[in-house]
Amino acid sequence: MLDTVLFWIEKNRGRFLHDLKNWLAIPSISAQPDHAADVQQAAEWAADYLRTIGLSVETVPTAKNPCIVATTPATLAPAGSPHILIYGHYDVQPPEPLDLWTSPPFSATVRNDQLFARGASDDKGQAHCHLAALMAWKEINSGFPCRITVLLEGEEEIGSPNLMSVVNARRDLLGSADILLISDTNIFAPGVPSITYGLRGLAGVEFALTGAKTDLHSGMYGGTVANPAHALVEMLARLHDKDGRVTVPGFYDQVLPLTDAERDMWKTLPHDDTAFARDLGVPALFGEAGFSTLERKWARPTLEINGLTSGYQGAGAKTVLPNRASVKITCRLVPNQDGEEITDRLIAHLKSLTPPGVTFDIVYRAKASPPAITPIHSPAMAAAAKAMELAFGKAPVFQREGGSIPVVAWFKQALNIDSILLGFGLPDDRIHAPNEKLDLPYYYNGIKTCAAAYDLLAEALKT
Ligand code: BES
Ligand code: MN
Ligand code: MN
Repeated sequence: MLDTVLFWIEKNRGRFLHDLKNWLAIPSISAQPDHAADVQQAAEWAADYLRTIGLSVETVPTAKNPCIVATTPATLAPAGSPHILIYGHYDVQPPEPLDLWTSPPFSATVRNDQLFARGASDDKGQAHCHLAALMAWKEINSGFPCRITVLLEGEEEIGSPNLMSVVNARRDLLGSADILLISDTNIFAPGVPSITYGLRGLAGVEFALTGAKTDLHSGMYGGTVANPAHALVEMLARLHDKDGRVTVPGFYDQVLPLTDAERDMWKTLPHDDTAFARDLGVPALFGEAGFSTLERKWARPTLEINGLTSGYQGAGAKTVLPNRASVKITCRLVPNQDGEEITDRLIAHLKSLTPPGVTFDIVYRAKASPPAITPIHSPAMAAAAKAMELAFGKAPVFQREGGSIPVVAWFKQALNIDSILLGFGLPDDRIHAPNEKLDLPYYYNGIKTCAAAYDLLAEALKT
C-alpha cells in the first residue's frame, strides 16, 4: 500500500504545490496586530483543507490566535492502532525589509526549483508536507494507517503563549498520542537527510536606561549628566568575557555537558569551518573558546543583542544627549538550563551593572522556551529514520539544532510525550530573512517521508 501512496504523491506534485501557494498567499504574521484577520484566515484555510481530507476538524479559539485540532475519525483509522500527533505552525515571521525580496513575500514564486515566500520553509511548507501525505493516504487507502491528530498553532513565532491552554483543554485527545511528529527544522546540508534530536531554548528581556526627563542639547548639558547610550554600551560590553563566555553569574551551572559519544558523532558530520565562514560572508568565525562550531551552536548557551536603540537615527548630524537607551537581549539555552531562572539571573546581573546616573527598567520579559533533547535509540526513531531513508534514498544523520520550538519540551513535561523532529528545510532557506525559500525536491521528499513515517510508526508503536 505504501508504494502506491508514494507513487500517487509523485503524480500529484503539481497539485500539492498549487495548494501550498494558496496557503502562502495569506500573510499570517503573528507579531503584527494589523494581520489578525489574515492569521485567522490562514487557520481557516488549514481547517478547510483538513476537512476535505476527511479529518474531524475543530478550530479551538485562544486569547489570541486559534489552534486547529484535526483527528482521524474512528471509521478511517484501524481500531486500537497507535496514535501519532503532528504539530506545525501556520503563523509566519514579519517579511520586512520588503525591498530586499526579489519577488513579493506573499506571492509564492518558483525559480530554479525553489519556492520563494515567507513561510515556504518555516513552517507552512513543511507543515504542508504532512497535509499532503494525509491526503495521499486518504485517496489511496480510503483511510489512514493509524490514528493521527494534527495540531496547528498560530503563535509559534511569538513564543506559543496560548498553546498549552489548548493542550490542556484537549488533554484527552492530545495526551493519548504515542509520539509527537514535527517538521519545522532543517537537514544538516543538501544531500544529507537528518533527524534533529535536540533544540536550544530561549529566554529574553528588553530593558531601558533612562537619564533626564527629556533629550538635552549636548553642548549645554554634555559633561554634567550620564548619557544613557554610553551607560548601555558599557553594560553590554561586560556581558561576555574575553573568551566569549557569558558573565551572568551561574549562567553555566545547569548546562548538561556533552557526552563523548555525541562529540564523536558530530565530528563525523560533513562540517567545514572555512566553507561555513565563506557561505556566511564573515571574515572569521567567533564564539566561546574551547568548543567547535557545531558544539557552540547546538550544545552551548549564548547571549545575543537582538536590537539596540538610542539617540538620533535620522539623516545628518544632531548634537543631542539622548535621555533613553534600550536593548533587546535573548539567550539560547541548552539542557538542563531553566529559562525563568536564567532570566532572573540575567536581570539581577544587569541591575548590578547599571552605572550611577541612569534608571534601569525592564520593558518586556519573555516567557521562556525550554531547551529539549529527545531519545535517539527508540523503535519510533528507527521507524522515522527508515521513512526518511525510503524517501531520500539515504539514511539520515542525527543532529541537534540551535533554534527553539517550545512545544517539544512542554509536551514532554505536561504529557510525557517524546518528539521526533523530521525536518525538510535547508540551512540556506533564509527563514526569518528576506527571500525565504524551500527547495522543491526536499518538499516532495518531505511529503513522501511523512507518508512513510505514518505507516512505519504505526507498525513500530504497536503494543
Ligand atoms: N522553526 C523555527 C525553529 C528552528 C529554526 C529550529 C531552525 C531549528 C532550526 C521556529 O519557527 C522559530 O523560529 N522559533 C523561534 C523561537 C520562538 C520562541 C520565537 C526561534 O528559534 O527563534
Ligand atoms: Mn518554525
Ligand atoms: Mn520561525
